[in-house]
Amino acid sequence: MHPERGGRKRPPSVRHEGQHALSPAMSHDDFARFDFVMTSYFHVAQDIYPGNKRAYDERVAPRYHKRHGGPPKTRAEVREAMYADPYWQMWSALKRGNQELSYAARSQVLAQEFDALEARAAKANGRGKSTLRLNPDLKVPRYVTAIDIHCQPGGYNASDGEDLYAGAMYDTASLYLATGGEFGKWNDAAGWSMVNWLTTEFPDINPKRILDIGCTVGHSTLPLAQHFTKAEVHAIDVCAPQVRFGKMRADSLDVGVHFSQQNAEATDFPDNHFDVVTSAMVLHEMPQKAMKRMAKEIHRILKPGGVMVHAEQPQYHGQPAAEQFLREWDTRFNNEPFRCGFRDMDLTGLATGAGFRAAGVHQDMGPGCALGPNGIEVRGPGLWLFFSARKSH
Ligand SMILES: C[S@@+](CC[C@H](N)C(=O)[O-])C[C@H]1O[C@@H](n2cnc3c(N)ncnc32)[C@H](O)[C@@H]1O
Repeated sequence: MHPERGGRKRPPSVRHEGQHALSPAMSHDDFARFDFVMTSYFHVAQDIYPGNKRAYDERVAPRYHKRHGGPPKTRAEVREAMYADPYWQMWSALKRGNQELSYAARSQVLAQEFDALEARAAKANGRGKSTLRLNPDLKVPRYVTAIDIHCQPGGYNASDGEDLYAGAMYDTASLYLATGGEFGKWNDAAGWSMVNWLTTEFPDINPKRILDIGCTVGHSTLPLAQHFTKAEVHAIDVCAPQVRFGKMRADSLDVGVHFSQQNAEATDFPDNHFDVVTSAMVLHEMPQKAMKRMAKEIHRILKPGGVMVHAEQPQYHGQPAAEQFLREWDTRFNNEPFRCGFRDMDLTGLATGAGFRAAGVHQDMGPGCALGPNGIEVRGPGLWLFFSARKSH
């Protein structure tokens, strides 16, 4: 819980993030640097961001109206008008600056700690409940390698090999910092929200085999294994550094997951193999052609009656153009080129194009959850878009 200050939330210290075998050792100054960046994220989001709406309502929209004889109707029209506004320019520059500061702080810690992490990983290799399969011959798609996704230096596959750097960069004070700890000490809130959604929508669900696609370091995968204890849980990511890091992280948290380096567009799993296939925050980072191939692949590997479910951010459909404009920031300034395209997409069409029947497709806003002392707790209603489809018998 955040202590409240005058109605505003104050982020916790990065010191409270969970520590596992591959967490880098951090000094007082490292934590102070991270806490400064986290506080700056919060200041920009809570205190500065709301001024964009005032700038739009009181200055930008009226000026546009005067010039064009009517208000901006589309996201592009709002963009054209807002880009010239100094308040929006200031907010955008500060937001981008925070993102770069965060990666600079992480780079500094990893530069000091990286050899120690690799040494610890080498010592732990092969131990623990989880398994790992790497595929050095797998071609990592250009839509992953060519992008420094959300400004992460080198992106998810930075090393273009197997070392742990890109996994460590993703894991170290990242989601915890960006969300002010809202994703829990293990950054696993999306996973617990997924568990909650699955068990609420399908109360009789008793999966034998689960696959989590685009697992990165397994933040959202582990809750699936921790909750569905009788299931065999698999997790794939196309980047070796991510699954390699994920396996060691899971081992050190005493959770068993079968990690493998695979492209979700064409996996090596047999037909009709999984009861549940999940992904968390993956679709908005994929180009639509790849997403269509992946949906067909999911349909192939699901058992009849099996369920695919993707946890995502809400789409644009029906949102006012000004709101859409403010939410497109990451596409244009945070190296997330596919995000807007995903938000405009017809997801039912994606599922039916892959072989699912329209009647089995659902799109609902579901609650954000976390694991509390008494089990799964709902922390916020309607935080996640759950897009699901059931394979017919
Ligand atoms: C935003 S991250 C997902 C975060 C993760 N699911 C979680 O909840 O912590 C997107 C991940 O998808 C992976 N990815 C992208 N395209 C992929 C593909 N075709 N096959 C497998 N993984 C892919 C990326 O390498 C990246 O690790």
